[in-house]
Formats: sequence, C-alpha cells, structure tokens
Amino acid sequence: MKVPMLDLSEQYQSLKSEILTVLDEVMSSSRFILGDHVKKLENDIALYSNVKHGIGCGNGSDAIHIALQAAGVGPGDEVITTAFTFFATGGAIVRAGAKPVFVDIDPVTFNIDPAKIEEAVTEKTKAILPVHLYGQMADMDPIVEIAKKHGLAIIEDAAQAIGAKYKGKSVGELGTAATYSFFPTKNLGAYGDGGMIVTNDDEIAEKCRVIRVHGSKPKYYHHVLGYNSRLDEMQAAILNVKFPHLDEWSKLRRERAATYTHLLKEMVGDMVVTPVEAEDRYHVFHQYTIRVPKRDELQAFLNENGVATMVYYPLPLHLQPVFKDLGYKEGDLKEAEKAAKEAVSLPMFPELKVEQQEYVVSKIAEFYKK
Ligand SMILES: Cc1ncc(COP(=O)(O)O)c(C=O)c1O
Repeated sequence: MKVPMLDLSEQYQSLKSEILTVLDEVMSSSRFILGDHVKKLENDIALYSNVKHGIGCGNGSDAIHIALQAAGVGPGDEVITTAFTFFATGGAIVRAGAKPVFVDIDPVTFNIDPAKIEEAVTEKTKAILPVHLYGQMADMDPIVEIAKKHGLAIIEDAAQAIGAKYKGKSVGELGTAATYSFFPTKNLGAYGDGGMIVTNDDEIAEKCRVIRVHGSKPKYYHHVLGYNSRLDEMQAAILNVKFPHLDEWSKLRRERAATYTHLLKEMVGDMVVTPVEAEDRYHVFHQYTIRVPKRDELQAFLNENGVATMVYYPLPLHLQPVFKDLGYKEGDLKEAEKAAKEAVSLPMFPELKVEQQEYVVSKIAEFYKK
C-alpha cells in the first residue's frame, strides 16, 4: 500500500465543475486583481474569524510581514516569537526590519511557552508573534496579559490554524491581527499562493490595504513603503468554492486524528507520544505530529514501506545559518531542539481512509518490534 502525506486529487474531483465554472467566470469578466471574489472571501473570512476586516494578500509570509509593518514594527524593534516554526515566521520579522527574539516551546503543544515570554521582553520589544502550530492555538490568555502590561502588539501566525479555537474564541479575536496562508497544502488551500490578514483594528486594516498595493494612497502617491502583494482573483474564486466545506474538513481531520491516537495506543503503546489537544482548545489538525525515539530510522523504514511522513521542522529557527548573527547556540532553547529531533508528522487529509491509517500504524508497530 502507498500512503501519501497529502492527496488533493479527491477533493478536486468533488469540486471540479464548480471550480471550472468560477474560473471561467473570472476569465470572462477580465477582472483579475482585487475584484468581487477577493472582496467576498475577505468578508467571509473576517466574519468566520469574528473580526471586522480581512485583507487578502499574496501569501502567508507577506501577510505576517504586512501585519507587522502595519502594527508599527520596524528597524530597531524586537519581536518575540517561537523558535519552532516554519522559516517564514522569522523571515517576516527580519523583512519588516526588526530583530526576532526566539523563545522556547511548551513540549506538550509545541507552541510558544508563555512562561518564557516575559523574560525576553526588553525596551525594544514591539510585538509578540505566537504561531498556532499544527492547527492548535497557542495559550493566548497569558500572551494577551503580557502584551497589555508592556504595550505590545500581538500578531498571530495562523497559517496552519484556520478554524482553530481558544476558549471558544477564533484566531484573530485575541490578537492585534492574525495571518492565514492559503498555500495549496493548508487546511483551506488555493491552487497557488495566497494569504490573508484578519483584524478588528480599523487603522491596521487600512494600513494593510495600502501596503499591499505599493503603499499607494491616493493612487500613485506613496507615503509609506509598500509592496505588490495581493490575493489573486482566480485563487479567491477557488477559495470561495472551497471555504463552505472548511468546517466539515476540519471535523474529518479531527476524526482521523482520533483514529490515529486510538490505533497508536493500541498497537504501539507508550513508545510514541501522541498529540495533545489542550482542554480549552479546538485543534484543526493541519498536521498529526507524534514524538518518537529513533525518528530518522522510523521515517526511513516507513518510506521503504510506502508511507510518506514529514519532519516539521528539523532545525529550529535560532539555529538556522541565516540567523547566525543573532548569536544563538545549541542548547539555548532545549525544548525546541528536542522537538526538532523527535517530531514526525503522519499522513493527514480529510479524505484519508481508515485502512490507510491502519497500515501506517501497523508499520510503526512493526518498526518498534524489530
Ligand atoms: C507557520 C507558518 N507560517 C507562515 C507560513 C507561510 O505561508 P506561505 O507559504 O503562504 O507564505 C507557513 C506556510 O507555509 C507556515 O506554516
């Protein structure tokens, strides 16, 4: 049997005629940039996130960069974030002109450890950038408290967590702004790049709208430095077809996650650590990530047996060569470093079959019996 990490083909087949219809509509209208499809998606996703504004942009990385800039982050500022995330989180901070300050993670949820944030605050700190990794929101209450105390902005990197909840609140409700990615593999994925900023703050929303069009306002007059980073009309049209299915897909992901956890406990036992959904959270399982001993050997064995897996992420940001000038060294953020050695994500998508899951877990069991 072959089990891919992700298979988007079944989803496409089920939506194909609707998608082809809307693409034809866009091409026939000749309105390709910031048209009605982008507006509709912005409104729907703002509503879904329980905030006032959605600002579509080129991708999730730009969404973080633009939100930071709109929140006033720039040269000389520091932004506190997690060391255990995709590169874009740290990259966006540097692109905004600021310095990333990396903090260790809570080993249970893989998210930034709020207890380590305050000691990282300095006079230069301007914002906290929690990442809702794998589809589970970070522990927001203490983050909001620290931000209030020190007058900091909170930009939530929710690239992996559209639909996730914290104490009943959505991504974007608790922070200054939150950012989504519509990269094709994401829970709500386009057929190309795309991203969005959501916020309740009128001023920040307006700044984001200006920054994504070269900082142009009025047209051809530039008071701030902006970029060309707009959500494409065709991608928005596709996303408008997919969006009504998102909650159902999240439900299916959660069911697959529960099946994995059940099978792993039964067939493999304590050898693997299964994901924990914190009591007050709604996890949307962008990834189903376990911790295991002999991770790299397990991954090679599964690969030989037709099971794809991924390591998100093998090197924490504080140890990335491009950030070497920041002066971090191995041992500085122990939990992030440990997670980078132990974490492995199993195939996860709403259409994953239970027989595929049984096969994956049987191969994991076989590896540890050897
Ligand atoms: C945590 C995180 N942040 C940011 C991004 C960047 O999003 P994009 O690929 O749309 O630029 C991604 C996804 O790729 C991500 O997983």
